[in-house]
Amino acid sequence: MPEITVLPEDLQNRIAAGEVIERPASVVKELVENSIDAGATEIAVEILNGGRRLILVSDNGRGMDREDALLCFHPHATSKISKEEDLFEIRTLGFRGEALSSIASVSRLKITTAPSGSTLGVSLEVHGGEPREVRETVHSGTTVEVRDLFFNTPARRKFLKSPRTEVYHIVETVTVAALSHPEVAFSLTVDRAETLRLPAAGGMRERVLQVYGEEFLGGLREVAAGNIRALISEEGNFRSSRSNQYIFVNQRPVRDASLRHAVYSAPMIPLFRGTGTRYSSSTST
Ligand SMILES: Nc1ncnc2c1ncn2[C@@H]1O[C@H](COP(=O)(O)OP(=O)(O)O)[C@@H](O)[C@H]1O
Ligand SMILES: [Mg+2]
Repeated sequence: MPEITVLPEDLQNRIAAGEVIERPASVVKELVENSIDAGATEIAVEILNGGRRLILVSDNGRGMDREDALLCFHPHATSKISKEEDLFEIRTLGFRGEALSSIASVSRLKITTAPSGSTLGVSLEVHGGEPREVRETVHSGTTVEVRDLFFNTPARRKFLKSPRTEVYHIVETVTVAALSHPEVAFSLTVDRAETLRLPAAGGMRERVLQVYGEEFLGGLREVAAGNIRALISEEGNFRSSRSNQYIFVNQRPVRDASLRHAVYSAPMIPLFRGTGTRYSSSTST
């Protein structure tokens, strides 16, 4: 008597979704990355009750036509790669086609989108992976609303922390996206209160100024080594934790010990203030 069964597809998806979507901040990360990949210059995020009740991300990116909007929820549906060679030349943040299908399988999701150049769009809902109604509507860009995250995966829901903690992770996620994409305007509203408002910035320094203020930026020195551009603390101004240290590779945040070590041990040339002296950023860890 065989004991193995292949799980039905919706259950497969719900289980797989756990790999991609761990908590509300993972939803924010995936949706914001999609907006960036869609060429958005403005991204607005709204949260209710730590993301349990609502996570909304709207953008002014290129949007989707009806056909794509109906397809984007399918597992492995992506516009970003189409053949094996593309894997070696990825220029977008996403490419696996897993995020929307994962989010849609563990929430009640609504997407409203219109292709650029048209205001006639569609709005469609998927609840726990089940497609619901599709309506024509007037829109520009894309808005994704995620309600009742993990309503059908009790184990995940149980592990959600307090709204305060979930909001902390969401703020961190939006901050990281904002630091790596200064040219994009971001806003974050938490329980109807504006928490972050970052207009499009002219570069990394201006974005750091917007996020951390003048005093923090004043304590940083801009340095360069090869392709590396960095803002690092002045000597004597080091912090005791890594919580405000970010490393980006091709505008992707990377947390990796060996990469961090490489950055710390690289001799860096100061770009501003003081010239000629080689500057090593080896302490402050
Ligand atoms: N905000 C958006 N604007 C325009 N298109 C989008 C947006 N979000 C998702 N899409 C489309 O839906 C597809 C699937 O998205 P996703 O599941 O995140 O997979 P991936 O980003 O890996 O391609 C994307 O490839 C893109 O074509
Ligand atoms: Mg994506």
